[in-house]
Amino acid sequence: MFNKPSFISSLLLTLALTNSFPGPAFATPAPLIPPTVFESRSSGAGISIPIRKRSGLANSSGVFDVDKARVDVIMTVNKHRRNMMNYLSTQGSLPAGYELEPLLTLPVNLVETLTGPNIIERQTVPLTDENNGELWDGQISIGSNDQKFIIDFDTGSSDLWVPSINCTASTCSSKHKYDPSASSSSEEQDGSFNIQYGDGSTVSGSIYTDGVTIAGISVTGQHFAAVTNLSNSVAQTSFDGILGMGYSTLSNLGAPTFFETAVKQGVVASPEFSFFLSANGSELYLGGTNSQLYTGDIEFHDVNTSPGYWKISGGSVGVPSNASVVSGIDTVVDSGTTLIYGPPNDVKNLWAAVPGAAAYDAEPGFYTYPCNQTLGVSFSWGGKNWSIPDEHMSTGFADGSGQKCVGAIIGQNIFGSSSPTWLVGDTFMKGVYSVFNLGNNQLGFAQLA
Ligand SMILES: *[C@@H]1O[C@H](CO)[C@@H](O)[C@H](O)[C@H]1NC(C)=O
Ligand SMILES: *[C@@H]1O[C@H](CO)[C@@H](O)[C@H](O)[C@H]1NC(C)=O
Ligand SMILES: *[C@@H]1O[C@H](CO)[C@@H](O)[C@H](O)[C@H]1NC(C)=O
Ligand SMILES: *[C@@H]1O[C@H](CO)[C@@H](O)[C@H](O)[C@H]1NC(C)=O
Ligand SMILES: *[C@@H]1O[C@H](CO)[C@@H](O)[C@H](O)[C@H]1NC(C)=O
Ligand SMILES: *[C@@H]1O[C@H](CO)[C@@H](O)[C@H](O)[C@H]1NC(C)=O
Ligand SMILES: *[C@@H]1O[C@H](CO)[C@@H](O)[C@H](O)[C@H]1NC(C)=O
Repeated sequence: MFNKPSFISSLLLTLALTNSFPGPAFATPAPLIPPTVFESRSSGAGISIPIRKRSGLANSSGVFDVDKARVDVIMTVNKHRRNMMNYLSTQGSLPAGYELEPLLTLPVNLVETLTGPNIIERQTVPLTDENNGELWDGQISIGSNDQKFIIDFDTGSSDLWVPSINCTASTCSSKHKYDPSASSSSEEQDGSFNIQYGDGSTVSGSIYTDGVTIAGISVTGQHFAAVTNLSNSVAQTSFDGILGMGYSTLSNLGAPTFFETAVKQGVVASPEFSFFLSANGSELYLGGTNSQLYTGDIEFHDVNTSPGYWKISGGSVGVPSNASVVSGIDTVVDSGTTLIYGPPNDVKNLWAAVPGAAAYDAEPGFYTYPCNQTLGVSFSWGGKNWSIPDEHMSTGFADGSGQKCVGAIIGQNIFGSSSPTWLVGDTFMKGVYSVFNLGNNQLGFAQLA
């Protein structure tokens, strides 16, 4: 057990010793953009950015890969731990009810898996794998000379970072790298950016401002980090870097996100962006919604912005025989997370309502169920039932026999054991059109067309 006050002060000390934040950002929280700047412009429609999917948690025979899943869980826990540490450093305390999960580290055998010859096989997983959606990426350009990067658009974090030209490690060999000397609009900023990964490596980088363009939407003076090494697990992914779309209270740089900057500079049609994640034709829409991709009304819910996430409350999760097996939950919607994570007891109760489901003995927190079982899991926030199509609920066969599937809802605390917050990733987002409105801080879902 941690003694909380001394744990937090030692954490702050650690942060102060190891992270050199941009000075003013450390002392004064970056203010959220006041709502008054969100006047809609008459320039009309927004712009869609095609995004690609990456490989999932199953191998090419469709069998659940325990190693990949373990890496995914560790990366997810550590990502949100980092968010909370960023929040702590910019806001002075953790959000109410949230706790830091311990940093998870990759077991030695997994580090070997990630660095061994296997890495080659894993790196060549096609970007357009149609069977196992994992993450989604798209292209942006940075600088006066349009340096191109493949980016993971992440509503669950709030910094933009890409590899630096200084990254000469093999982990960067397949990545695009930012070269500030090639961009006349690049300006180096004070401080440095730090990420500690689950494999024990720490990655740091210089901070820059430069122009950033996504599908014709250009902002100037965007803060981002150019990192000088990558962890092995990030090295294997198909993206170069991450563009955070959460609130800037979670930013390590203590700076507005790309979308906050775009709204402030008046370069998007409206202060809203939307995700359509599918096996084919996925897109991020900046500046509104793409009405061709959904039908009916958008069901909006107020976002509780205080923890810096796209978080809505009053949720319940159920199955056809019991619409609210779990109720009264907070949910963070995170496009940068593959699966759905809930507090272990909630998730245990949910799977107990699925006939034939059982804890998966190979990996704690995971469950198996008969592949031919109808699931009908749905989330509700007091309006419609937003159901997860059964085909999105399987992450792969539990074994070669193809009888049991491993489910995509995992029992794992992400925000501390006393927080009833669920982390809702692509497994849910693939079944709905999701709309993130920064103008009135609302998150909405609509039925796919
Ligand atoms: C997938 O994993 C299963 C179980 O580990 C294994 O039997 C099978 O050979 C693997 N398939 C491929 C193509 O690697
Ligand atoms: C590269 O390294 C130099 C010297 O440490 C540093 O000043 C510069 O900011 C780095 N450039 C990038 C793009 O990270
Ligand atoms: C880069 O990171 C990898 C993975 O953590 C590590 O093995 C390697 O030594 C690092 N390289 C440098 C130059 O820091
Ligand atoms: C994906 O979309 C493209 C273009 O619309 C189409 O040519 C292709 O057949 C589609 N693939 C699948 C698997 O639906
Ligand atoms: C949601 O689903 C449950 C169980 O399937 C059903 O009882 C309930 O009426 C549904 N609610 C709505 C609003 O459709
Ligand atoms: C639904 O599940 C919850 C939690 O297990 C339980 O308390 C409740 O009684 C169940 N409702 C029905 C109608 O079975
Ligand atoms: C699912 O498959 C099992 C084993 O093949 C079979 O016994 C069971 O009847 C099937 N259930 C459904 C709902 O089809």
